[in-house]
Amino acid sequence: MTLYWVIYLIYFVEVFFNLKSKTTEMKILLATEKPFAKVAVDGIRTEIENAGYELVLLEKYSDKSQLLEAVKDVNAIIIRSDIIDAEVFNAAHDLKIVVRAGAGYDNVDLEAATQHGVCVMNTPGQNSNAVAELVLGMMVYATRNFFNGTSGTELKGKKLGIHAYGNVGRNVARIAKGFEMEIYAFDPFCPAEIIEKDDVVAVTSVEELYKLCDIVSLHIPATPETKNSINYALLNQMPKGGILVNTARKEVINEDELISLMEDRSDFKYITDIMPAANAKFVELFSGRYFSTPKKMGAQTAEANINAGIAAAHQIVEFFKNNCEKYRVNK
Ligand code: 3PG
Repeated sequence: MTLYWVIYLIYFVEVFFNLKSKTTEMKILLATEKPFAKVAVDGIRTEIENAGYELVLLEKYSDKSQLLEAVKDVNAIIIRSDIIDAEVFNAAHDLKIVVRAGAGYDNVDLEAATQHGVCVMNTPGQNSNAVAELVLGMMVYATRNFFNGTSGTELKGKKLGIHAYGNVGRNVARIAKGFEMEIYAFDPFCPAEIIEKDDVVAVTSVEELYKLCDIVSLHIPATPETKNSINYALLNQMPKGGILVNTARKEVINEDELISLMEDRSDFKYITDIMPAANAKFVELFSGRYFSTPKKMGAQTAEANINAGIAAAHQIVEFFKNNCEKYRVNK
């Protein structure tokens, strides 16, 4: 009889602690220097708490030390463009997963993550419509001379070049069709059949894209291969009145060469959602043909925040409950 009770007690203790570790003990940090809309945070909270986990918030922080303190005892982190480097991984002793609620993950040190046994994911496609809508807005703003009252031009019939045909590029093509633009794309990683299925002309070299198109919209990620790749020689291929729209990353632009080009070509306009390091110089030199948003706002819509934020929370729950590593981006 006594042995029966001992076995029963061991079984009970095991079940209790197992349940506890699987449910209540996961702590998820939402660390967003640029915060999500409240409605998105509410959705993230529901997803996390329904799984039996705890959500802690670090929004609008101004110093890295706040992030280092907040990550100390968390098991998962949801971020946006927040920098997650080796120092953060060193400080986060219980960390198992980081989800970048968005597309680009150049802000996460993937090697350090792998060394620390941390899984890194993104949420591809969730904010792409928002970014694409901003691209079209920026194109109208540029062709209508920054709404300064002078006579501008129309998008209809203009040649649009989409540099990289991923989720954002595809959405740009879809919306640009409504403006009756002629659409071209270059993407060495996307088969021409996929591009042409959308009634977009797939060009075979990056030079051809820039040579053909009145407006080029950048959608390449920042990688060692693409950094500084948008340079004088490439941009100088664009026809008279060329417009470059950048909602991708500032690092892909060779800023010194873009400045030289705009000095040499008074017809050229640069519109960006990622403020260049040399913003003051651009403002001083290129009044009327340069514009930058003060803070990256392509994905800054309630809808994109909800889509990307809840997808990130869902991926974390799936990771802990079902070992699901779909969307993992590190080795
Ligand atoms: C992305 O990579 O998803 C976009 O650049 C949006 O970034 P953000 O979440 O920092 O606005």
